[in-house]
Amino acid sequence: MQRKQHKGAVILLLFLTMIWSVAEAKPKYIGAKKCGSCHKTEYLAWKTSSHAKAFNLLKPGKRQKAKKLADLDPDKDYRTDKKCIGCHVTGYRKKGGYKNLESTPELAVIGCEACHGPGSKYSILHDEKMYGFAKEEAASLGQLYGADDESVCLECHAHKDSPFHKNIAPKYIFEWQAALQKRKAYHPKRKKSSFAF
Ligand code: HEC
Ligand code: HEC
Ligand code: HEC
Ligand code: HEC
Repeated sequence: MQRKQHKGAVILLLFLTMIWSVAEAKPKYIGAKKCGSCHKTEYLAWKTSSHAKAFNLLKPGKRQKAKKLADLDPDKDYRTDKKCIGCHVTGYRKKGGYKNLESTPELAVIGCEACHGPGSKYSILHDEKMYGFAKEEAASLGQLYGADDESVCLECHAHKDSPFHKNIAPKYIFEWQAALQKRKAYHPKRKKSSFAF
């Protein structure tokens, strides 16, 4: 009997270790500022973009017309509404992602990592290998490629949970390729080397 219990405990321990190491292997969100320490051009452009300011749309009084059109209350503060936060911040309910304004204020933006993936691991690769890494290698560490994979943008755009979809008004139709060209919405395409330390 006691032996059996002992075995059970060992198996449980192994199992917990496994879960722990899997959890440990998952990349975390590090925030746009850290990306910006190397990617200054993208960071400065993104700062003024609509994605960087999208959390503010949840404040009362913002975009009143659009809210009314979508049957939302223009005077309500939606900044703590779980039905809204997910698509207006970075990494909501994910490891190291947005929790609330008090503990994770720097993630109350649609940051680099909303489109490029949580960066704790691939940013180290960027640093170590500079120009010498392949997309596949970065992707295996959690980097996403929104220009190759539409689903990166569809996490939010044209999503069934978004109050602003094509049934509300035609301007909310999301055309991925056309949207990618609107670089003002995130940051300009790099010319040659705009990389700065
Ligand atoms: C220590 C410096 C450093 C940090 C921090 C860093 N990067 Fe990079 N990154 C680089 C370098 C160097 C390259 C390779 C040269 C280039 O493409 O600019 C690169 C390349 C990239 C590319 C193009 C890669 C490809 O496969 O096409 C993207 C996108 C990118 N970084 C996004 C990010 C994001 C998002 C973060 C934050 C989570 C980040 N980087 C953090 C240095 C860094
Ligand atoms: C599933 C993702 C998702 C959820 C959930 C979501 N949004 Fe958004 N929201 C978006 C996207 C994507 C856009 C941009 C739509 C466009 O311009 O095509 C947007 C745009 C907006 C806009 C600007 C609309 C305009 O035309 O000016 C407001 C305001 C807004 N959201 C508020 C909210 C509120 C309030 C909630 C919760 C009730 C909410 N959102 C929930 C994805 C979402
Ligand atoms: C709304 C989505 C979005 C946001 C937010 C965003 N990017 Fe990008 N970024 C892209 C797309 C799409 C590309 C094209 C390559 C790809 O598929 O990853 C790109 C490309 C890049 C590149 C490669 C050079 C180039 O111009 O193609 C770098 C470096 C980069 N982003 C850094 C950043 C940094 C740093 C931030 C935050 C300060 C950021 N990005 C925020 C979507 C975004
Ligand atoms: C985390 C959710 C989220 C993701 C991921 C996301 N977006 Fe957005 N996007 C938004 C919201 C919210 C707005 C509304 C901003 C506003 O109306 O001010 C928006 C607005 C836009 C706009 C219109 C902005 C303007 O200034 O006209 C374009 C274009 C766009 N996104 C393209 C993209 C592309 C391309 C991708 C994928 C590479 C992407 N977005 C990924 C949430 C997201």
